[in-house]
Amino acid sequence: MPRIVIDPSGKTFPCEGRQSILEAALAASVALNYGCSSGTCGLCIGRLKQGKIEKIRHYDFPVKDADRLRGDFPLCSYTAASPEVTIEAAEATGGIDIRWQRIEARIKKLERISNAIGVIAVQTPRTSRLRFLPGQNACLTLPVGLSADMPIASCPCDDRNIEFHLRNDPSDEFAGAVFGTTNFPTPVRIEGPWGPTPEMASNTRTVCLAYDTYIAPLRSWIEQQLAEDSSQLITVYWCARDESDFYLANLLNAWRDAFDAFSFYLIVTDDPARIPSAVKNRLTEEENSPAGDVQVLISGPAPFTNQVRTMLESINFPESSQYVHTMARPT
Ligand code: FES
Repeated sequence: MPRIVIDPSGKTFPCEGRQSILEAALAASVALNYGCSSGTCGLCIGRLKQGKIEKIRHYDFPVKDADRLRGDFPLCSYTAASPEVTIEAAEATGGIDIRWQRIEARIKKLERISNAIGVIAVQTPRTSRLRFLPGQNACLTLPVGLSADMPIASCPCDDRNIEFHLRNDPSDEFAGAVFGTTNFPTPVRIEGPWGPTPEMASNTRTVCLAYDTYIAPLRSWIEQQLAEDSSQLITVYWCARDESDFYLANLLNAWRDAFDAFSFYLIVTDDPARIPSAVKNRLTEEENSPAGDVQVLISGPAPFTNQVRTMLESINFPESSQYVHTMARPT
């Protein structure tokens, strides 16, 4: 299978059959620049440095002759035609590198995990997909005008099928409207993304701490790591008020069965600000583990994240190795 090499990052990924180079990059969670995925915006233009490529679909974006002679081409319209292809292309390194998008999409379905929690499956049109990085957020707006800012729960490797987790809080009009909908698909506008993404430093172990549905943005990150087959050792500590709130337990079990590097613990605690000391003891063990070099990803309501940070401070865990998910919009 042909292999694509990205210059200057040196990242490599396979390009299967008639897959476009852009599709292959997304499947491998390589965050190349792009917009429409259909040959009209020109945002995915890369430069061929070595190897051969083949055009697989028409594109409307006008590539100037001089640029074409230098090797420029839209990555969404070409596939690899030699065993190895080297391309010069820009990659997003943080959430700030991703442009703001506004897409008229549809809610394909609401999977009711329980009376209290639902998984919203949004699908964008083929020609207008949502580009984002793990840990980022988006705003959903219903035709009746109700809207909600939510963390994206799915892997950036699928930019068309986007998942969100929603708690059916009686005081939340948006949640009430979605849970009250009986006919799917239904239109929805999706805007974003925003928010920082966990840095991909050289850490060898990652500890994820989440409370309730705030696990969503960490799920996005974990799925990307597992899809990439990264060498990270990942441990999840997921806290919730009640056993019935662990709505992703089957998925976590499946990941644990499939990946040696993945493990998780479910912790019932009815107060997000009161994290059992067993977690602190385990964190201390992680920090002292021979693998060293641990990063911690935290996602939860403020009382939870504050408590975790205090706990990390008490064991002198470096702040530079902590990522805290935030819903705050950029000012
Ligand atoms: S992504 Fe728009 S032209 Fe390729």
